[in-house]
Amino acid sequence: MSEHIEGQGVITAENVRKSYVGGDGSTLEVLTGVDLVVRRGETVAIIGESGSGKSTLLHILGGLDTPSEGELWIGDERLRGMDENRLGTIRNRSIGFVFQFHHLLREFSVLENVMMPQLIAGCSPVEAADRARELLGQVGLERRVEHRPMQLSGGEQQRAAVARALANRPLALLADEPSGNLDPDSSERLHDLLFGISAASGTAMILVTHNMRIAVRSDRVLQVREGQLVVADERVYRQAGSRPE
Ligand SMILES: Nc1ncnc2c1ncn2[C@@H]1O[C@H](COP(=O)(O)OP(=O)(O)OP(=O)(O)O)[C@@H](O)[C@H]1O
Ligand SMILES: [Mg+2]
Repeated sequence: MSEHIEGQGVITAENVRKSYVGGDGSTLEVLTGVDLVVRRGETVAIIGESGSGKSTLLHILGGLDTPSEGELWIGDERLRGMDENRLGTIRNRSIGFVFQFHHLLREFSVLENVMMPQLIAGCSPVEAADRARELLGQVGLERRVEHRPMQLSGGEQQRAAVARALANRPLALLADEPSGNLDPDSSERLHDLLFGISAASGTAMILVTHNMRIAVRSDRVLQVREGQLVVADERVYRQAGSRPE
């Protein structure tokens, strides 16, 4: 990628490849050359069959996993060769993750869970608590701040996870089937929240989903197919009952 393009996206991937060596010594090539530039505030949906490599790609884009080959930038920071400490700091400050399971810390209150990434980033406890309350208000949990994660419904747990993901005002939210365990109403509410917050705060979002109706709410729908990331075809929009503009 030429000098003037690198780091222009909030997340930039160039020729990312990922292969795994199986138990029998054979090589499984999951990603065979993915290029992606996600711009500030842009929403991108990633679809694809089960096992196609969506989670693998999302983990690489967020610096949770390293590609076998290729380059990755978060903001203008190139990840190659970066030590684990520095990488951890960039992940904490620049990326907000929401997974299928909430991964909230069970021994802490919801408020403390949302304060945690801020405290790690060096924020004062008072500031962190203020921001956490504000975010928990935005996701409709102002009356659940002292609850433990186990005392919340599934939809509430995921909304708390969204608040935590946003705590450090990340450049990008990365969500991997965040409503995978929710009923349709809770799923709808969660996605309204994700798209609403992304639009209001200018936070980019990369959303992995199996739900075409949700996918087409994004600025772009991309599909992992045979190791490549391609623009989703017309069929996706037909399935969702809407057409690209
Ligand atoms: N750590 C690993 N070691 C070996 N193979 C792996 C590993 N992680 C994933 N794979 C393989 O890579 C492929 C892609 O997995 P991935 O989890 O990215 O798929 P996915 O598109 O997210 O699927 P789903 O929709 O079911 O979540 C799968 O065939 C999987 O078996
Ligand atoms: Mg997956």
